[in-house]
Amino acid sequence: MKIAVFSTRPYDREFLDQANQAAGGRHRFSWYESRLNATTADLARDHDCVCAFVNDHLGRQELEILAGQGTRLIALRSAGFNNVDLEAARDLGLQIGRVPAYSPDAIAEHAVALILCLNRKIHKAYARVREGNFALEGLLGFDLKGKVAGVIGTGKIGINVARILKGFGCEVLASDPFETPELAQIGGRYVPVEELMAACDIITLHCPLTPDTRHLIDRAAIGRMKHGVMLINTSRGAVMDARAVISGLKNGRIGYVGLDVYEEEEDLFFEDLSEQVIRDDVFVRLMTFPNVLITGHQGFFTREAMSAIAGTTIGNISAFEDSGTPLYPVQVERRG
Ligand code: NAI
Repeated sequence: MKIAVFSTRPYDREFLDQANQAAGGRHRFSWYESRLNATTADLARDHDCVCAFVNDHLGRQELEILAGQGTRLIALRSAGFNNVDLEAARDLGLQIGRVPAYSPDAIAEHAVALILCLNRKIHKAYARVREGNFALEGLLGFDLKGKVAGVIGTGKIGINVARILKGFGCEVLASDPFETPELAQIGGRYVPVEELMAACDIITLHCPLTPDTRHLIDRAAIGRMKHGVMLINTSRGAVMDARAVISGLKNGRIGYVGLDVYEEEEDLFFEDLSEQVIRDDVFVRLMTFPNVLITGHQGFFTREAMSAIAGTTIGNISAFEDSGTPLYPVQVERRG
């Protein structure tokens, strides 16, 4: 098939090329660095498939343009599909494929890396030692053993985070509308989300972004949390209200924040903006806090995950070409 790949970086190309070779080289790619939106959609003219990533826009307007130009399949290189208007896709007869699981360990391990780095201030220690400053003031951390950790969303990623935190000796509480028996097997327990928020020293988010989870962490939720709580978000930025988080940091209710995602990340992440002025005042304010650590949506970025993403993406495209349906289709009713 002819595939227009948007938001392409050299690493996407490397892994997709490898996966295509492994499938006999049956597909042809056009590589575009640009994000997909109503202006750039024209680049996909006469391509049967559009391959998109998390910050590509697949609203009704973009999907109408794509369908009108001959696209029949949207192959997402992601698990999340909150950037796609599924009703519009259904109306236009477009199929959507996604990558439901590709090393949940990668994201789980990154969430735990944020916890460890924030707690023991590794990022500060690294910079200090390079300057010849070996003083310990300001680097005081806490033992993870015995702390209460709350996992919101115990799907593929959240359950791995729960397992790792249990390994550190944390008491693990969790909240999920669809409970899994695996949690009890690893020694965690489900509690209502309000109880989780009030009881935990660390709260880590692993639910998808849906209308129900948008701004799940808002002023009211933060008001119920323990003084000095650590908040970790590697799910989707909008699960947290960033302005409410800033207020919580200013009044000391929140002691630490670790983010791999941000509500307005599409204008920032995956780009080198080091020579530019960042105009998002909320983001810039977040970066000024000494107890906030932000990474630019890199949770998925391991060799194993990239290889699995590319393999499943090519699998989706090949299955669609052979049978008219991708391996992992997104159904319209799965949203919300
Ligand atoms: P999953 O679908 O396996 O698990 C999500 C879990 O969240 C499910 O068990 C679901 O029942 C639960 N959930 C839904 N609504 C909830 C609510 N209101 N409260 C508590 N739990 C709720 O998804 P997976 O693979 O574990 O991924 C989770 C999220 O992580 C994705 O939706 C995506 O947004 C994000 N992600 C981030 C990546 C990164 O690089 N930072 C990479 C991959 C995924």
